[in-house]
Amino acid sequence: MRSAKDFFRPLAVGAPAPVREVPLRPSRMIHFFDPGNEKMAAKVPSLAPQVDVLLGNLEDAVPADRKEAARLGLVKTARATDFGDTQLWTRINSLDSPWVLDDLLTLVPEIGDKLDVVMVPKVEGAQDIHYVDRLLAQLEAKAGLGRPILVHAILETATGVANVEEIAGASPRMQGISLGPADLAASRRMKTTRVGGGHPGYLVRADPAPAADGGADAPRPTFQQDLWHYTIARMVDACAAHGILPYYGPFGDIQDVTACEDQFRNAFLLGCVGAWSLHPAQIAIAKRVFSPSPQDVAWARRVIAAMGDGTGAVMIDGKMQDDATYKQCLVVADLADALAARDPELAEVYAAATREEDAR
Ligand code: GLV
Ligand code: MG
Repeated sequence: MRSAKDFFRPLAVGAPAPVREVPLRPSRMIHFFDPGNEKMAAKVPSLAPQVDVLLGNLEDAVPADRKEAARLGLVKTARATDFGDTQLWTRINSLDSPWVLDDLLTLVPEIGDKLDVVMVPKVEGAQDIHYVDRLLAQLEAKAGLGRPILVHAILETATGVANVEEIAGASPRMQGISLGPADLAASRRMKTTRVGGGHPGYLVRADPAPAADGGADAPRPTFQQDLWHYTIARMVDACAAHGILPYYGPFGDIQDVTACEDQFRNAFLLGCVGAWSLHPAQIAIAKRVFSPSPQDVAWARRVIAAMGDGTGAVMIDGKMQDDATYKQCLVVADLADALAARDPELAEVYAAATREEDAR
């Protein structure tokens, strides 16, 4: 067993010291692009200011005969682009593939100074994170990098879900975890054929009406249920317990912007900080959903101001506030401050709503 005292020691001589806290940088949308597709790569400089995270995808959706082109395309794009304060992430190939070693051996020396996070697919347990952790440390030391590249795991196998707590706590390098509903559905042998979202067959039905109202012959409304509730809740708890960030992953039906927004919002309300965007149409959805509403921010700021040192209880508009609601309001207000610091338009919207709330 590794001593707790050694947990924050670099795993290779000369590698940068591990971070103690995950940097709280906005990551409402992790926007995927195929770096081997020249048309898509050419759009990266104009996309960068519109998103919080740009991710060069090397894994699924990149055909086997284009893996190398995608890897080299990412090197070229990363070198040529000024990302400003937008983060650059990559999704490497899975650890059981023949491509992943070359992904890391190429990317760290070539663009390690620009890469913020490496997303690792199909993580099954702490052993997968330990493998990447040590390898990254060796490569960072060799490349003379001054800051560690962080690691993000995709939760997309049944074994991974069973081990989600140990994955979240496997290394100080862990930045967060995303739900991967498509691979997870396959791994669990779920009978769906979609990328995220619900299914009309997964429902509950109202009881039959009393005989006086038509009995069993009266229509019985049904309510579709969320296939992902259990996994997202487990993932959120594991991440919160280990001080890392949870994300909803992909929503594959690009046309269905309404259901996409619903799925993203469920994840936001349960504690997730962002989701993947697979198409430019999903960028605005993620931005809207994962930025707290101006009304909620104004309310949170009002409660915080009224609660003073955060102890005791006050009544505001007939609603009881105490230490626990104060803490909830801090979550909303701190997130709003972090987003506003990067987005002057949002800062003004929040300020206007706060002025309105104060004037009430
Ligand atoms: C994402 O990679 C997924 O499998 O849903
Ligand atoms: Mg997947």
